[in-house]
Amino acid sequence: MDFVETPFLVIDPKKVVKNYRRLCQAFDGNVMIYYAVKANSHVEFLKQLNREGSSFDVASLGEIMKLIKLGVSPDRMSFGNTIKKARDVDVAYTMGVELFAVDSEMEIDKVARYAPGSKVFVRIHTSGLESDWPLSGKFGTTVDHAVELVDWARFRGLKPVGVSFHVGSQNYNPKNWEIAIKDAGIVFNEAAKRYHIILDFLNTGGGWPVKHVKPIPNVEDIASVIMDSVKRYIGNSVLIATEPGRYMVGDAGTLVSSVVLRSKRLGKDWVYIDTGVFHGLMETIEDFRYEIEVFGKEDIPRKKFTLAGPTCDSVDVIYDEVDLPKNIAEGDKVIFINAGAYTIEYASHFNGIEPPAVYTLEQLKVLYEINKTA
Ligand SMILES: Cc1ncc(COP(=O)(O)O)c(C=O)c1O
Repeated sequence: MDFVETPFLVIDPKKVVKNYRRLCQAFDGNVMIYYAVKANSHVEFLKQLNREGSSFDVASLGEIMKLIKLGVSPDRMSFGNTIKKARDVDVAYTMGVELFAVDSEMEIDKVARYAPGSKVFVRIHTSGLESDWPLSGKFGTTVDHAVELVDWARFRGLKPVGVSFHVGSQNYNPKNWEIAIKDAGIVFNEAAKRYHIILDFLNTGGGWPVKHVKPIPNVEDIASVIMDSVKRYIGNSVLIATEPGRYMVGDAGTLVSSVVLRSKRLGKDWVYIDTGVFHGLMETIEDFRYEIEVFGKEDIPRKKFTLAGPTCDSVDVIYDEVDLPKNIAEGDKVIFINAGAYTIEYASHFNGIEPPAVYTLEQLKVLYEINKTA
């Protein structure tokens, strides 16, 4: 694997197509999929999803412009961030984005001012229980307040269309979607009862998990909980949407790094590699665990090491304790499996070290052939 400089992320855009189709199928086609671009905005992923007919959840003007350049129609975008800059709302609206997430009066006022008459959905809070990345606290509001916001949005001349939530990223229990849908149902019912506002859009957010070291529920089981809960708590005349990020691209990327140094420090064995917290492995700061392989040393007995990145910063420690082959040495390739989501998107130039390169599987094959014949 020495034919290309590490670190790099190798991506397989065909996997994204497979994941997209599997998710559609799990809902018998009765779902609007808004891919959460923030998970990985590589153009090959976006192009494939665009071809499949996906819609897109966008967090910023930067993501909107990237999609527009690829020919994605703005009416297939949902501006799902509830903390938008006024300028971004203004430009998004001018470009043709029609759907915005809100969870406060001020955000509604902003959308009403810069995107008059647009469709909005109100995000409710969830506990984030049983997820690796709870998104509770910073986003979403109470059920009661959400009902008030629906009315406020209409008062400000917007079109309140529905409710959204996010059960927390990498959620391990389908039951958490049911709990959130039950709450969303209260907003639907109360908006109709109190204000005669009929909502018909339920955005079930992200949270779809990717296989790492713990067992995960399968897509079909989560979809079936969502569909059953919608029937039970809201009714049949609702358009179900979902915003997978991690699920769509997680298993479509593998991060490859090299060992730079092995040393003993304060009684611990350390391994330093050429990528770390600031260069793709940001999620490990909360001890998010990837499956790790060391190329060619799969059968070597393992022992505990502290695994760290290459920068001059003590935060750049990937795992305090992780099992690695006991004879791991400089130059060995350390491979992070299913690392397509929230890796390269977070990578910085900290310490003057470039983010990992990204190659498609096809590009890597070409590089390999060139190296063989050189
Ligand atoms: C509004 C919104 N939708 C969808 C997602 C994607 O979540 P996930 O990657 O867990 O599927 C996120 C992630 O932060 C988000 O903020």
